[in-house]
Amino acid sequence: MRVLVSGGAGYVGSFTVRSLLSAGHEVLVVDDLSTGRREAVSGVPLELGDIRDELRLESVFANFRPHAVMHFAGLKSSEESMTEIGRYMDVNVRGLTTVLECSRRHGVRLFVFSSSCSVYGTPGCVPVTEDVSAAPESPYGESKSMGEHLVQWYGRLANIRFANLRYFNAAGAAADGSHGAYVPASVREIFPMVIRACLGMVDGIRILGSDFPTSDGTAVRDYIHVEDLAKAHLRVLEGLDDSDVSGSYNVGCGTGVSVQEVVQTVRMVSGRRPPVSFGARRPGDPAGLWADTTRIKEAFGWEPVHDLAAIAETAWRWHRDNPSTLGPDSSSLSGR
Ligand SMILES: NC(=O)c1ccc[n+]([C@@H]2O[C@H](COP(=O)([O-])OP(=O)(O)OC[C@H]3O[C@@H](n4cnc5c(N)ncnc54)[C@H](O)[C@@H]3O)[C@@H](O)[C@H]2O)c1
Repeated sequence: MRVLVSGGAGYVGSFTVRSLLSAGHEVLVVDDLSTGRREAVSGVPLELGDIRDELRLESVFANFRPHAVMHFAGLKSSEESMTEIGRYMDVNVRGLTTVLECSRRHGVRLFVFSSSCSVYGTPGCVPVTEDVSAAPESPYGESKSMGEHLVQWYGRLANIRFANLRYFNAAGAAADGSHGAYVPASVREIFPMVIRACLGMVDGIRILGSDFPTSDGTAVRDYIHVEDLAKAHLRVLEGLDDSDVSGSYNVGCGTGVSVQEVVQTVRMVSGRRPPVSFGARRPGDPAGLWADTTRIKEAFGWEPVHDLAAIAETAWRWHRDNPSTLGPDSSSLSGR
């Protein structure tokens, strides 16, 4: 199948591109490299451009004639979106609309959208199922919820089979050490932040919130290995091609892991013990958020195979062996 991958030079996109290529699909990446890296997709055809540039995108679709589109391109920080509402809506909603319009005009049959567990906000119960109503608590989460609605409308009216994949927290690197995340210092993601401390790039680890109603008082989240996530995309694409199981799907491990457990696991695999301190919770941080993954298992037969130790071990090796993939930072951990 010919698959156009927007944002394919980013973290999740580039792992998915590898999965698609190894399954024999033909791939074209469209990316403006604002956060993505050319080297993440070296040897893969790349159109350097902004998804909001409709004229440009139109000619890319006309030339490549994709059967399917995977849409990863977007901005992804809930925190940043609180002060940059316009930019988040512009890239995540207008950008998606442009990609969907081109998809409709060029007869794309399958569409896979990178949504997020942030559409749930703070759900009343966990594990959260897809039937729980969206209640985003940031412009980022709102942009993903709006994106899902757009995808559904195009799906229905333009006869495109679709999947809105609600990722939980992607982490980890390739098991063979060949590929991993490039994490700018400004990005506050838990594994890179703990690893920075283990490498001595920052003084220690600061955990925000130690009084949540969880087993150890720290926030609980669902971490999914990026290679499992990439495989999920492949399964979903091929499953949608076989039958119309369009809908929204959680993609997580289905298990809750606390911030303390992440810290302990990275300390264990790295053999380093940076000091840990605690600060106050951030407003709006849910105590626990993890996925019920029954729906994606039933529809596509997909299940994750990597556990927390594998995530920590592969991420640690990648950043230790490629320290330039991390920058200096002194931020604190809260589970996001
Ligand atoms: N990483 C996660 O844990 C996670 C969780 C939930 C949802 N998501 C969503 O998955 C998608 C991919 O996430 P990621 O972690 O790979 O992020 P990423 O920042 O590594 O990748 C995003 C890619 O999109 C490209 N891009 C951004 N704006 C663009 C534009 N206007 N035109 C063209 N390309 C553009 C970037 O250069 C980058 O290559 C995002 O939409 C994100 O919101 C990610």
